[in-house]
Amino acid sequence: MMALIAALVLTRTAAYTSPRAPVVAGNWKMNPGTAEEALALAEALDAVEGREVVVFPPSCYLEAVARKTNKNVALGAQDACVLAESGAFTGAVSLPMLKMPRVDYVLCGHSERRSLFSDDDDAIRAKVRGALDAGFAAMLCIGETQQEYELGITDDICALQLAKALEGVTAAEMANVVVAYEPVWAIGTGLVCPATVAQRVHASMRQRLRATYDSSVADACRILYGGSASPLVIDGIMRQPDIDGVLVGGAALDAATFNQVSNFHAGWWRTRSFLKKVLHR
Ligand code: 13P
Repeated sequence: MMALIAALVLTRTAAYTSPRAPVVAGNWKMNPGTAEEALALAEALDAVEGREVVVFPPSCYLEAVARKTNKNVALGAQDACVLAESGAFTGAVSLPMLKMPRVDYVLCGHSERRSLFSDDDDAIRAKVRGALDAGFAAMLCIGETQQEYELGITDDICALQLAKALEGVTAAEMANVVVAYEPVWAIGTGLVCPATVAQRVHASMRQRLRATYDSSVADACRILYGGSASPLVIDGIMRQPDIDGVLVGGAALDAATFNQVSNFHAGWWRTRSFLKKVLHR
Protein backbone atom coordinates (compact mmCIF):
# COMPACT_ATOMS: atom_id res chain seq x y z
CA MET A 1 0.00 0.00 0.00
CA MET A 2 2.75 2.42 1.01
CA ALA A 3 4.64 1.58 -2.19
CA LEU A 4 1.52 2.28 -4.20
CA ILE A 5 1.02 5.65 -2.50
CA ALA A 6 4.70 6.51 -2.99
CA ALA A 7 4.49 5.59 -6.68
CA LEU A 8 1.34 7.68 -7.04
CA VAL A 9 3.00 10.64 -5.33
CA LEU A 10 6.09 10.37 -7.51
CA THR A 11 4.31 9.97 -10.81
CA ARG A 12 1.71 12.59 -10.02
CA THR A 13 4.30 15.02 -8.70
CA ALA A 14 6.38 14.58 -11.83
CA ALA A 15 3.30 14.96 -13.98
CA TYR A 16 2.44 18.12 -12.09
CA THR A 17 5.80 19.80 -12.06
CA SER A 18 7.18 18.89 -15.46
CA PRO A 19 4.69 20.64 -17.72
CA ARG A 20 4.83 23.73 -15.57
CA ALA A 21 8.43 24.09 -14.54
CA PRO A 22 8.58 27.20 -12.34
CA VAL A 23 9.96 30.37 -13.88
CA VAL A 24 11.90 32.96 -11.91
CA ALA A 25 12.32 36.00 -14.11
CA GLY A 26 14.15 39.22 -13.35
CA ASN A 27 13.09 42.40 -15.13
CA TRP A 28 16.00 44.80 -14.74
CA LYS A 29 14.03 47.66 -16.29
CA MET A 30 16.38 50.62 -17.04
CA ASN A 31 19.06 49.29 -14.68
CA PRO A 32 21.84 49.00 -13.73
CA GLY A 33 23.47 52.27 -14.69
CA THR A 34 26.70 50.89 -16.13
CA ALA A 35 27.75 47.93 -18.25
CA GLU A 36 30.24 46.88 -15.55
CA GLU A 37 27.47 46.61 -12.98
CA ALA A 38 25.30 44.70 -15.45
CA LEU A 39 28.05 42.20 -16.10
CA ALA A 40 28.81 41.75 -12.40
CA LEU A 41 25.13 41.08 -11.75
CA ALA A 42 24.91 38.68 -14.69
CA GLU A 43 27.95 36.74 -13.60
CA ALA A 44 26.62 36.18 -10.08
CA LEU A 45 23.26 34.67 -11.08
CA ASP A 46 22.48 31.08 -10.13
CA ALA A 47 20.98 28.64 -12.56
CA VAL A 48 18.66 26.37 -10.57
CA GLU A 49 17.86 22.87 -11.67
CA GLY A 50 14.22 22.23 -12.48
CA ARG A 51 13.49 25.96 -12.68
CA GLU A 52 13.73 28.34 -15.53
CA VAL A 53 15.69 31.42 -14.55
CA VAL A 54 15.29 34.28 -17.01
CA VAL A 55 16.65 37.81 -16.97
CA PHE A 56 15.52 40.80 -18.97
CA PRO A 57 18.38 43.31 -19.10
CA PRO A 58 18.23 46.54 -21.12
CA SER A 59 18.78 45.52 -24.74
CA CYS A 60 22.15 47.32 -24.95
CA TYR A 61 23.52 44.85 -22.38
CA LEU A 62 21.96 41.69 -23.81
CA GLU A 63 24.90 40.39 -25.77
CA ALA A 64 27.43 40.95 -23.01
CA VAL A 65 25.08 39.53 -20.36
CA ALA A 66 24.63 36.42 -22.52
CA ARG A 67 28.39 35.91 -22.48
CA LYS A 68 28.66 36.32 -18.71
CA THR A 69 25.66 34.42 -17.33
CA ASN A 70 25.51 30.74 -16.65
CA LYS A 71 24.39 29.13 -19.91
CA ASN A 72 21.29 27.75 -18.17
CA VAL A 73 20.01 31.24 -17.44
CA ALA A 74 17.70 32.36 -20.26
CA LEU A 75 17.53 35.91 -21.51
CA GLY A 76 14.78 38.13 -22.76
CA ALA A 77 14.24 41.59 -24.20
CA GLN A 78 12.07 44.05 -22.29
CA ASP A 79 10.33 45.30 -25.41
CA ALA A 80 10.57 45.25 -29.19
CA CYS A 81 9.47 47.54 -31.96
CA VAL A 82 7.22 45.63 -34.35
CA LEU A 83 6.54 48.44 -36.81
CA ALA A 84 9.25 47.24 -39.19
CA GLU A 85 12.39 45.15 -39.24
CA SER A 86 14.55 48.21 -39.88
CA GLY A 87 14.12 51.77 -41.05
CA ALA A 88 13.48 55.27 -39.80
CA PHE A 89 12.30 54.49 -36.26
CA THR A 90 14.59 56.50 -34.03
CA GLY A 91 15.33 54.84 -30.73
CA ALA A 92 13.64 51.56 -31.60
CA VAL A 93 15.03 48.02 -31.57
CA SER A 94 13.34 45.51 -33.87
CA LEU A 95 12.74 41.81 -33.35
CA PRO A 96 15.39 40.68 -35.88
CA MET A 97 17.91 42.85 -34.03
CA LEU A 98 17.10 40.95 -30.85
CA LYS A 99 17.85 37.61 -32.50
CA MET A 100 20.96 36.94 -30.50
CA PRO A 101 22.17 33.72 -28.95
CA ARG A 102 20.29 32.87 -25.74
CA VAL A 103 17.64 35.57 -26.14
CA ASP A 104 14.46 33.50 -25.93
CA TYR A 105 11.80 35.86 -24.57
CA VAL A 106 10.22 39.19 -25.35
CA LEU A 107 8.31 40.94 -22.59
CA CYS A 108 5.00 42.30 -23.89
CA GLY A 109 2.54 44.61 -22.18
CA HIS A 110 4.44 45.51 -19.04
CA SER A 111 2.41 48.11 -17.14
CA GLU A 112 5.25 50.64 -17.47
CA ARG A 113 5.08 50.24 -21.26
CA ARG A 114 1.31 50.63 -21.07
CA SER A 115 1.35 53.74 -18.88
CA LEU A 116 4.59 55.51 -19.80
CA PHE A 117 4.97 54.59 -23.47
CA SER A 118 1.29 54.38 -24.43
CA ASP A 119 1.39 50.73 -25.49
CA ASP A 120 -2.31 50.00 -25.94
CA ASP A 121 -4.04 46.65 -26.41
CA ASP A 122 -3.49 46.72 -30.19
CA ALA A 123 0.20 47.47 -29.81
CA ILE A 124 0.57 44.71 -27.24
CA ARG A 125 -1.25 42.20 -29.44
CA ALA A 126 1.06 43.16 -32.31
CA LYS A 127 4.08 42.64 -30.07
CA VAL A 128 2.89 39.21 -28.94
CA ARG A 129 2.18 38.27 -32.57
CA GLY A 130 5.53 39.65 -33.75
CA ALA A 131 7.48 37.93 -30.98
CA LEU A 132 5.89 34.55 -31.73
CA ASP A 133 6.35 34.94 -35.49
CA ALA A 134 9.99 35.82 -34.97
CA GLY A 135 10.53 32.65 -32.94
CA PHE A 136 10.61 34.17 -29.45
CA ALA A 137 8.47 33.22 -26.49
CA ALA A 138 6.21 36.05 -25.38
CA MET A 139 5.99 36.91 -21.69
CA LEU A 140 2.72 38.78 -21.53
CA CYS A 141 2.06 41.06 -18.56
CA ILE A 142 -1.45 41.86 -17.41
CA GLY A 143 -2.70 43.56 -14.28
CA GLU A 144 -5.13 46.00 -12.76
CA THR A 145 -4.57 49.44 -11.26
CA GLN A 146 -5.17 50.24 -7.62
CA GLN A 147 -8.50 51.83 -8.45
CA GLU A 148 -9.62 48.78 -10.42
CA TYR A 149 -8.51 46.54 -7.55
CA GLU A 150 -10.54 48.59 -5.08
CA LEU A 151 -13.55 48.49 -7.39
CA GLY A 152 -13.34 44.69 -7.38
CA ILE A 153 -12.96 44.44 -11.15
CA THR A 154 -9.51 42.81 -11.21
CA ASP A 155 -10.67 39.65 -12.98
CA ASP A 156 -12.55 41.53 -15.67
CA ILE A 157 -9.62 43.87 -16.38
CA CYS A 158 -7.12 41.04 -16.50
CA ALA A 159 -9.37 38.85 -18.62
CA LEU A 160 -9.85 41.68 -21.10
CA GLN A 161 -6.12 42.36 -21.35
CA LEU A 162 -5.47 38.64 -21.73
CA ALA A 163 -8.09 38.19 -24.45
CA LYS A 164 -6.99 41.24 -26.43
CA ALA A 165 -3.29 40.38 -26.31
CA LEU A 166 -3.90 36.76 -27.31
CA GLU A 167 -6.30 37.47 -30.15
CA GLY A 168 -5.21 35.25 -33.05
CA VAL A 169 -2.75 33.21 -30.97
CA THR A 170 -3.39 29.52 -31.61
CA ALA A 171 -3.46 26.72 -29.06
CA ALA A 172 -0.17 25.41 -30.45
CA GLU A 173 1.44 28.84 -30.13
CA MET A 174 0.37 29.05 -26.49
CA ALA A 175 3.28 26.71 -25.71
CA ASN A 176 5.43 29.81 -26.27
CA VAL A 177 3.43 32.19 -24.13
CA VAL A 178 4.01 32.84 -20.44
CA VAL A 179 1.54 35.11 -18.66
CA ALA A 180 2.62 37.39 -15.81
CA TYR A 181 -0.06 38.78 -13.51
CA GLU A 182 1.35 42.04 -12.19
CA PRO A 183 -1.08 44.14 -10.16
CA VAL A 184 0.05 47.69 -10.96
CA TRP A 185 -0.44 48.81 -7.36
CA ALA A 186 2.05 46.19 -6.17
CA ILE A 187 4.82 47.13 -8.61
CA GLY A 188 7.74 48.90 -6.95
CA THR A 189 5.59 49.85 -3.96
CA GLY A 190 6.58 47.17 -1.46
CA LEU A 191 2.91 46.18 -1.33
CA VAL A 192 2.59 42.51 -2.19
CA CYS A 193 -0.72 41.16 -3.37
CA PRO A 194 -1.74 38.59 -0.72
CA ALA A 195 -0.79 35.16 -2.06
CA THR A 196 -4.32 33.85 -1.75
CA VAL A 197 -5.71 36.82 -3.69
CA ALA A 198 -3.09 36.34 -6.41
CA GLN A 199 -3.95 32.63 -6.47
CA ARG A 200 -7.58 33.48 -7.10
CA VAL A 201 -6.67 35.74 -10.02
CA HIS A 202 -4.32 33.12 -11.45
CA ALA A 203 -6.98 30.43 -11.20
CA SER A 204 -9.44 32.74 -12.88
CA MET A 205 -7.00 33.49 -15.75
CA ARG A 206 -6.33 29.78 -16.14
CA GLN A 207 -10.07 29.25 -16.36
CA ARG A 208 -10.24 31.88 -19.13
CA LEU A 209 -7.52 30.03 -21.02
CA ARG A 210 -9.50 26.82 -20.57
CA ALA A 211 -12.60 28.48 -22.02
CA THR A 212 -10.71 30.10 -24.92
CA TYR A 213 -8.52 27.12 -25.75
CA ASP A 214 -8.81 23.87 -23.85
CA SER A 215 -7.69 22.20 -20.65
CA SER A 216 -4.35 21.10 -21.99
CA VAL A 217 -3.41 24.68 -22.93
CA ALA A 218 -4.70 26.03 -19.62
CA ASP A 219 -2.95 23.37 -17.55
CA ALA A 220 0.36 23.83 -19.38
CA CYS A 221 0.48 27.64 -19.42
CA ARG A 222 2.77 29.17 -16.84
CA ILE A 223 1.25 32.12 -15.03
CA LEU A 224 3.71 34.16 -12.98
CA TYR A 225 3.11 36.68 -10.24
CA GLY A 226 4.89 40.06 -10.28
CA GLY A 227 4.75 42.94 -7.82
CA SER A 228 7.30 43.46 -5.03
CA ALA A 229 8.23 39.77 -5.07
CA SER A 230 11.21 39.13 -2.79
CA PRO A 231 12.83 36.43 -0.67
CA LEU A 232 10.47 37.40 2.17
CA VAL A 233 7.34 36.41 0.32
CA ILE A 234 8.45 33.96 -2.36
CA ASP A 235 7.75 30.75 -0.46
CA GLY A 236 4.19 31.81 0.34
CA ILE A 237 3.61 32.81 -3.27
CA MET A 238 5.01 29.60 -4.67
CA ARG A 239 2.81 27.51 -2.38
CA GLN A 240 -0.15 28.52 -4.48
CA PRO A 241 -1.11 25.84 -6.99
CA ASP A 242 -1.78 28.21 -9.89
CA ILE A 243 1.27 30.43 -9.39
CA ASP A 244 4.08 29.08 -11.52
CA GLY A 245 6.79 31.58 -10.78
CA VAL A 246 7.54 35.24 -10.38
CA LEU A 247 8.54 38.25 -12.42
CA VAL A 248 10.80 40.24 -10.14
CA GLY A 249 11.74 43.91 -10.52
CA GLY A 250 13.68 45.67 -7.75
CA ALA A 251 14.80 42.47 -6.04
CA ALA A 252 16.35 41.26 -9.31
CA LEU A 253 19.00 43.99 -9.17
CA ASP A 254 20.92 42.35 -6.37
CA ALA A 255 22.30 38.96 -7.36
CA ALA A 256 22.23 37.48 -3.85
CA THR A 257 18.61 38.54 -3.36
CA PHE A 258 17.52 37.30 -6.78
CA ASN A 259 19.32 33.99 -6.17
CA GLN A 260 17.39 33.60 -2.93
CA VAL A 261 14.19 34.04 -4.89
CA SER A 262 15.33 31.52 -7.52
CA ASN A 263 16.12 29.02 -4.79
CA PHE A 264 12.69 29.26 -3.16
CA HIS A 265 11.41 26.30 -1.15
CA ALA A 266 7.89 25.32 -1.87
CA GLY A 267 8.17 21.76 -3.06
CA TRP A 268 6.34 20.05 -0.27
CA TRP A 269 3.54 22.59 -0.21
CA ARG A 270 3.02 22.37 -3.93
CA THR A 271 3.11 18.60 -3.78
CA ARG A 272 0.61 18.68 -0.94
CA SER A 273 -1.79 20.96 -2.79
CA PHE A 274 -1.45 18.82 -5.88
CA LEU A 275 -2.14 15.68 -3.88
CA LYS A 276 -5.23 17.30 -2.42
CA LYS A 277 -6.49 17.91 -5.94
CA VAL A 278 -5.69 14.39 -7.14
CA LEU A 279 -7.19 12.66 -4.15
CA HIS A 280 -10.38 14.66 -4.46
CA ARG A 281 -10.76 13.94 -8.16
P1 13P B 1 8.94 45.10 -8.46
O1 13P B 1 9.37 43.69 -8.14
O2 13P B 1 10.04 46.11 -8.29
O3 13P B 1 7.69 45.47 -7.78
O4 13P B 1 8.64 45.12 -10.04
C1 13P B 1 7.82 44.16 -10.58
C2 13P B 1 7.85 44.28 -12.04
O5 13P B 1 7.41 45.28 -12.60
C3 13P B 1 8.45 43.19 -12.80
O6 13P B 1 8.18 43.31 -14.15
